[in-house]
Amino acid sequence: MENKLVMPRHIAIIMDGNGRWAQKRSLNRCEGHREGAEALKRLIEGMKEFPEVEYMTFYAFSTENWKRSKEEVSALMSLLVEFLDANLPLFQKNDLRLLVTGRPEGLPEEPRKKLADAIGATSNNKGLTVIMALNYGGRSEIADAAKNIARKAASGELDPEKVDEALFAQYLYNPQVPDPDLLIRTSGELRLSNFLLWEISYSEIYVTDTLWPDFDKNELLKAMESFGKRSRRFGGR
Ligand code: FPP
Repeated sequence: MENKLVMPRHIAIIMDGNGRWAQKRSLNRCEGHREGAEALKRLIEGMKEFPEVEYMTFYAFSTENWKRSKEEVSALMSLLVEFLDANLPLFQKNDLRLLVTGRPEGLPEEPRKKLADAIGATSNNKGLTVIMALNYGGRSEIADAAKNIARKAASGELDPEKVDEALFAQYLYNPQVPDPDLLIRTSGELRLSNFLLWEISYSEIYVTDTLWPDFDKNELLKAMESFGKRSRRFGGR
């Protein structure tokens, strides 16, 4: 009998290596990001073949990325606007729902507005949920949750004794989204880079040397096959 692959319901991806992809071709780093955005589009489009995957989270801009040069930050923000403009029809055609995780309020006005519009326009779609991590930091997310819990406790709305893991998780940016089953990082680095620190406690980690602009459906399939072979015990035996 053929073994059916155990599929991840939620895949989170650290899209690393755009700069190195560009450098190898003597191109500007921003050209690498542009090719990265194309890779993202192709991957999202191909996900209709894997309907078992319900959520994908992509690390597109971290709270630390503001430290990059003004030119690179501005190129990434323009690319986000372009990406949303160019791909809204694809989201609608493939029934994809867009969400954001992070502090979108800290983004410049144009990308912030485009993002809010695209999230609104796709909110009733029933297919894959695509979550863009933008101005996202794992520690910021945990600190923001702690702040909101502390506010409620201070105003007497919440008994501090009631704070446990389940309650805490309700104060994260997207409490309705299940934790990632599989975390993929491209371009070989063995780091978490402040991504989804709370949510990836029990995620399986897959690292590939492939640079993000070269990451495609076949690469994803390899990661899913590796995931399918693992036995997840969640700390039990
Ligand atoms: C890391 O590569 C990548 C980023 C900081 C940005 C990720 C953005 C994209 C994939 C483009 C799609 C995003 C939008 C906004 C639509 P790096 O620059 O750190 O690569 P390097 O480590 O090789 O220098």
